[in-house]
Amino acid sequence: MTNSSSPTSTWSQRFETALHPAIVRFNASIGFDIELIEYDLTGSQAHARMLAKTGIISQEEGETLVSGLEQIRQEYRQGFFKPGIDAEDVHFAVERRLTELIGDVGKKLHTARSRNDQVGTDTRLYLRDQIQTIRQQIRQFQTVLVALAEQHIETLIPGYTHLQRAQPLSLAHHLLAYVEMTERDWERLGDVYKRVDMLPLGSGALAGTTFPIDRHYSAELLGFSRVYANSLDGVSDRDFAVEFLAAASLIMVHLSRLSEEVILWASEEFRFVTLTDSCATGSSIMPQKKNPDVPELVRGKTGRVFGHLQAMLVLMKGLPLAYNKDLQEDKEALFDGVKTVQACLEAMTILMQEGLVFQTNRLNAAVNEDFSNATDVADYLAAKGVPFREAYNLVGKVVKTSLSAGKLLKDLTLEEWQSIHPKFESDIYEAIAPRQVVAARNSYGGTGFEQVRQAVQAAKGRLNP
Ligand code: ARG
Repeated sequence: MTNSSSPTSTWSQRFETALHPAIVRFNASIGFDIELIEYDLTGSQAHARMLAKTGIISQEEGETLVSGLEQIRQEYRQGFFKPGIDAEDVHFAVERRLTELIGDVGKKLHTARSRNDQVGTDTRLYLRDQIQTIRQQIRQFQTVLVALAEQHIETLIPGYTHLQRAQPLSLAHHLLAYVEMTERDWERLGDVYKRVDMLPLGSGALAGTTFPIDRHYSAELLGFSRVYANSLDGVSDRDFAVEFLAAASLIMVHLSRLSEEVILWASEEFRFVTLTDSCATGSSIMPQKKNPDVPELVRGKTGRVFGHLQAMLVLMKGLPLAYNKDLQEDKEALFDGVKTVQACLEAMTILMQEGLVFQTNRLNAAVNEDFSNATDVADYLAAKGVPFREAYNLVGKVVKTSLSAGKLLKDLTLEEWQSIHPKFESDIYEAIAPRQVVAARNSYGGTGFEQVRQAVQAAKGRLNP
């Protein structure tokens, strides 16, 4: 058996014996890089066109390569092209099939190219698409949140610091906080995209090529805005993958924080939401249970994405220039990061759209049964000229005596208020009513209903420019 026909040795005649079967398996990436096949075909078609345009191969050869690659695409889509690990990776698998289909011309495809600049190209093509998808998913998630916010501008919910009741809020304001977080995610991905949108093809194995290639033409065909200016950097840069996983990690942080809140809200202790049957599951043993599996899974999956970011950073830190086989390890982290973020965005969008019913009676009762209007008493006095710190200390005392008397601030008589400070008048009751407490925070970015209404409009404007 000659080397060129030996399935385990796609490379040169320098090799005399085949790879050990365990090493074939160890070395192969086809099990996961098949994910790149459509991008590999597209990248190769552009490369073939460039080779023809520059006269490195004939026009006819170029066309044969392009249509052969297209045929592989159809075979793959119809489920007929299923390369095994003997193909090593997706690049070899395609090249081998191409030669089977169109004969010796297929062997010209790899002229002026290396798998090193090829795999970098494929990965960037893949990630460009995925980033666009994720940005659209963020927009859908925000659209659902904004619609929910619009229904709940006047719904009050306790606001917390230290998970202690702090000040009441418009529920819309709370939901819009997540719209702001994910707006930064959307922007950040747009920024990451600029550095994914750079073409390494034409860097060769590491040093460029002896052929008169036209890298800018390849970039134009593949829709890349820039080409790598240094071939060593071109084949060995994975900054874009690190950046993507960092952006993905922050998306997960935001989804995970919302998840944690939903889980709390759905608990018997809070009862701020109930879960609809379409997004909750039961227990195999406790018939009364309805579990918030969706937000729990999102919270749980967050760690995976952080792990992929860490893995990618560690993968890169000790690599000498230029390509090293270590880089084959970038893919599973990247692919799983992409899939996890996409799946979590989809699930959370559905959860927010149809998975929760806010218990407005319960929310209303909650904001009426605590001391979260205490700041407003201090503000009331401060507005009447009492220095804020002095007012704050006075109110602290009132809270203490009310607590021991088992009363809320709204239960104090006007005489009691006036014995605390003569500046209290009958309008104190209006000032500490939860609805007024919220309405009064009309500073820009605050929870006052007027501000929140404007914030809903601003968010809508961004979503439908
Ligand atoms: N499967 C390889 C990867 O994922 C392709 C590049 C191989 N290049 C090489 N010089 N062995 O990175």
